[in-house]
Amino acid sequence: MERLQKLMAHAGVASRRGSEKLIKEGRVKVNGEVVTEMGLIVKKNDTIEVDNVPITQEQKLYFLFNKPRGVITSASDHKGRKTVVDYFSSIEQRIYPVGRLDYDTTGVLIMTNDGELTNQLTHPKFGIEKTYVAKVTGLVHKSSIAKLEKGLFIDNYKTRPAKARIIEINKAKNTSLIELTIHEGKNHQVKKMLQAIGHPVEKLNRSHYGFLTTEGLQSGEWRELKPFEVNKLKQLAHEESND
Ligand code: URA
Repeated sequence: MERLQKLMAHAGVASRRGSEKLIKEGRVKVNGEVVTEMGLIVKKNDTIEVDNVPITQEQKLYFLFNKPRGVITSASDHKGRKTVVDYFSSIEQRIYPVGRLDYDTTGVLIMTNDGELTNQLTHPKFGIEKTYVAKVTGLVHKSSIAKLEKGLFIDNYKTRPAKARIIEINKAKNTSLIELTIHEGKNHQVKKMLQAIGHPVEKLNRSHYGFLTTEGLQSGEWRELKPFEVNKLKQLAHEESND
């Protein structure tokens, strides 16, 4: 459900203002009736015509992608590297990633054409829970886990409380596997946090984005989100915005 002038703007008929003008001029029909009042709420299946030409409402699409390593999280790359959008060439609509994963980071990435949800989910104050599994150099000590959890300084910024645990220590290879759950999304945050405790990241995977995981998806595969998953995401974004 959306206001008529907003929906017209989203469908690319005119700007919000321009759409209001068209409505005032009596050039817009909803389900065959001319509408001149502003702010009418329209539903997905309502037919809307401008000068008797039906406009198609853009269908919102939501995908869960298991991002591979060596792929850039953007719509295009000036260096000609492969982008996450390249994996969606069969989708006609222009879709884009929600937030970013580094070139060498793998795992859960949401792709959509829903700008409103994207803005909500990526706004710093929303902070949906994100879990990462990092392979780091060195044998991580419990005291370092405590530092990650309490918050530490990266780029003059103190990270918010996080959850962290050691999954595995490999003495022979001198590496550790760490799980870290954060609510923020500063640039290269996980790598910087682990660097700050003296353990550079060798490999990074995002295992969870809120309640979503890559279960059932091979690297480079994607699936459409189910309606209940979309609703849950929207609900989370909404709840967090009201915190
Ligand atoms: N933190 C990082 O350092 N890199 C990512 O890709 C995501 C979170």
